[in-house]
Amino acid sequence: MRLALASDHGGFTLKEAVKAWLQEWGHEVVDMGVHNPQPVDYPDVIGPAAAAVSRGEVERAVVLCGTGIGASLVANKYPGVRCALCHDIYTAKMGRMHNDANILAMGGRVLGEGLAKEMLKVWLETPFEGGRHARRLGKVSEIEHRILGGKGP
Ligand code: RB5
Repeated sequence: MRLALASDHGGFTLKEAVKAWLQEWGHEVVDMGVHNPQPVDYPDVIGPAAAAVSRGEVERAVVLCGTGIGASLVANKYPGVRCALCHDIYTAKMGRMHNDANILAMGGRVLGEGLAKEMLKVWLETPFEGGRHARRLGKVSEIEHRILGGKGP
């Protein structure tokens, strides 16, 4: 899978670990920064990764900040993005099964690396269930189109 990866300073250490795991598992990683732990504003780095998903340049993305909250807020502003802020294996799994999440947000100051690695694996491997969940996501898309007028990033 080709994935974008981005974090602010709060997610930098975990981003570096995520990058290594993704590469170890054979994925293509587009690392969109940050490349050092100097403070930055999370919209500046998370936005381009979410835009890459929105435009179909990558299949999925992983975004990180201190809590994952700011990163998920930004990502979900982009058309076609379904970003799930996950804290455990259950939410990572359900984010795929029920929400077809194409971006995973995690908090670098919240999660230990062992848990984050398991969450990432589950999120990558769990398929979308479709069915009634597809109908519900269709309604989410309708809201997006109504509000954004179908504008691209
Ligand atoms: C940065 O200190 C922190 O606010 C940021 O990483 C993130 O947690 C925001 O949601």
